[in-house]
Amino acid sequence: MQDVDLLRELEPTAERLLARHLATAKEWFPHEFVPWSRGRDFEPGEIFDPDASTIPAGVRSALLVNLLTEDNLPHYYQTIASKFGTDSVWGEWNRRWTAEEGRHSIVIRDYLTVTRSIDLHTLERARMAQVSSGKVPNPPSIADGIVYVALQELATRVSHRNTGKLLDDPAGDAVMTRVAADENLHHIFYRDLVAEALEIDPSGMVAAIDRQVRHFEMPGAGIPDFSTHARLIADVGVYDFASHHDRILVPVVVKHWRIPQLENLKSAAEQARDRVMRHIERLDLVAKRMVARQDRRAVPVV
Ligand SMILES: [Fe+2]
Ligand SMILES: [Fe+2]
Repeated sequence: MQDVDLLRELEPTAERLLARHLATAKEWFPHEFVPWSRGRDFEPGEIFDPDASTIPAGVRSALLVNLLTEDNLPHYYQTIASKFGTDSVWGEWNRRWTAEEGRHSIVIRDYLTVTRSIDLHTLERARMAQVSSGKVPNPPSIADGIVYVALQELATRVSHRNTGKLLDDPAGDAVMTRVAADENLHHIFYRDLVAEALEIDPSGMVAAIDRQVRHFEMPGAGIPDFSTHARLIADVGVYDFASHHDRILVPVVVKHWRIPQLENLKSAAEQARDRVMRHIERLDLVAKRMVARQDRRAVPVV
């Protein structure tokens, strides 16, 4: 199905899901989550000492990558606007989503600054490098795009939530839990949009799900030393193969979208379904073997 046709057919559902989102989302204020009393002035050029940090290196990597991912918002906005347009419900959703995403970087940066949890020079240099590079995932179609963001918003939620738990600081945990709750609502919007698209064009959507699941990568390609950070993040248990399989692929692709039960697929889509289900099973085996060996591995390594 052509992008314009799929967008047109999905429009009433997107309107319903946006209304549901607006009724569910709760107003919150980034400044109320930041423990300002812990802050003090920085001397220019003050050096961060990783050996003096009580936060494990993997958790510091997670904080850095999670924040930089939020910082790349201008490029996500642009990619979504160029694919979905700026009119009608699609433009309205993109603008609202952008406003919500904007406060994620505000609250995480303020928290990291007052608590001096990571190296703020490295953070700022990485932000400049990443945003200047403009690298973002750019799925090839509307079908691919909504599948990718449905998976990515949930993966981001899991990553923020796990990072908060590992912080050993109730204020930091509250920041990450609050952000994760927003990500969950974003995920649900896209998850249910995909469910409707599966009714409209099951074969086209299964092909997109196959492509996006097998080639899934977290946004972060433009982050300096991304693969090193991704390995440290997996090592510390923030996000790894097992979480990707158990918390993303099974609940969403297998149980919610019910890919194994879909009927009336064209033969190419039948093949795509077999391929993606084999991939998910293989990922489970790899994850279980790694858990047994205590070997956590970053996700885009299959
Ligand atoms: Fe976010
Ligand atoms: Fe989000």
